[in-house]
Amino acid sequence: MVGPCEMSGMVTVRELQTSEEPITMLTAYDATTAEIVDAAGVDVVLVGDSMGDTALGYESTLPVTVDEMASHVGAVARATEDALVVADMPFLSVGVDPADSVEHCGRMLKEEGAQAVKLESGPHTVELTERLTQLGIPVMAHLGLTPQRVHQLGGYKRQGTSSEAATEILELAREHEAAGAFSLVLEHVPANLAAHVTEELEIPTIGIGAGGDCDGQVLVVDDAVGLTEDAPSFAKQFGDVRAEMERAVEGYVEEVESGEFPGSEHATVADDLDV
Ligand code: KIV
Repeated sequence: MVGPCEMSGMVTVRELQTSEEPITMLTAYDATTAEIVDAAGVDVVLVGDSMGDTALGYESTLPVTVDEMASHVGAVARATEDALVVADMPFLSVGVDPADSVEHCGRMLKEEGAQAVKLESGPHTVELTERLTQLGIPVMAHLGLTPQRVHQLGGYKRQGTSSEAATEILELAREHEAAGAFSLVLEHVPANLAAHVTEELEIPTIGIGAGGDCDGQVLVVDDAVGLTEDAPSFAKQFGDVRAEMERAVEGYVEEVESGEFPGSEHATVADDLDV
């Protein structure tokens, strides 16, 4: 069996489910980043609502709207050739009214080119997961730390740390799998809980702050490339893009101010111009 990275063409939900290689997922919110992430061979590009506190400058993910998500999903989908594009459904865009929930999710596939949606999950998303799956909208579930519940959880705290809470996560994972979810994100939970859930489920688990025993890993791209100044402790910085951008921008400012840029090689002259 081949892993998703070795396949030509678009990675599919089914291929992810049968992959024997660890699944790689990164977020992207714009076309340039999506192009880079896709070309590097990432299996899944998640247009995360983390765009709220990264690209959009909000204090949390809560203010992200369906229109904002749709616009960024479109940009990412247009720039992605191979990876599976997953649209993360914003706070209150699902779970309030069933018809609206379906319409908001459907819009991401029908108008913007995503291949699946991700729902921050709970007891309220089991039926919706089943309905969306019936309608042909693949659903990635998300349990553990679900940042849209930041006020209810009292912060971005590790979840599933008591036996009762861990059992609840396992039960919800099973219910979402039975409802048709094609994969499950586990965020900021103990590694031994993530390992147990992974063992119990048929569908792949994708971890973030959940240890090394999940079937795949996901990071926020800003954290992975070193754009974020206050990345969570479970994220690893694989580059220092912020320092490189700062160097480039400072160089630009210096050269414009000193008159070095633009040089003659950056300008054109029209010989016949009578001015
Ligand atoms: O919004 C996001 O980026 C996410 C990932 C951290 C899983 O939900």
